[in-house]
Amino acid sequence: MVELKKRLSVILESPQDTNTKLLKICQVLDKEIDYYNWTGFYFKNGDKDELVLGPYVGAVTDHVIIPFGKGICGQVAVSGETFVVPDVNAQDNYLSCSIDTKAEIVVPIFKNGENIGQIDIDSHKIDPFTKEDEELLNWLCEEVAKIL
Ligand code: SME
Repeated sequence: MVELKKRLSVILESPQDTNTKLLKICQVLDKEIDYYNWTGFYFKNGDKDELVLGPYVGAVTDHVIIPFGKGICGQVAVSGETFVVPDVNAQDNYLSCSIDTKAEIVVPIFKNGENIGQIDIDSHKIDPFTKEDEELLNWLCEEVAKIL
């Protein structure tokens, strides 16, 4: 994890535009953690109560725009709290991106106290996410907020 954080920090501090950095972060996470099978960012869409898809790695998704309250992502946009879903089939308010997805974690990104976006990770494995993942992703979201 320490090594991975260092690599992510190098990307965050590099002289590239924000979307390139966010895409590279997705690529590193996707490559280094085998149970991260779709990794992407969503952001609040201007003044609208909806999320818009940002940089991501994984299968193409229909969910480019997600209204607040819809799906796991939309619920995190409202609650501002990390949502770990060990088994997506047990969720009623869930938007399926791929039939291969078994689990999901969504961690909010706060900037100046405002919930402005999130990182969303899908896994093809049931119940793969640990406290270590939460710790890594919380750290990452705090670091990402600094470059937004
Ligand atoms: N599963 C998410 C939708 C986004 S896709 O996973 C990329 C949700 O329920 O909000």
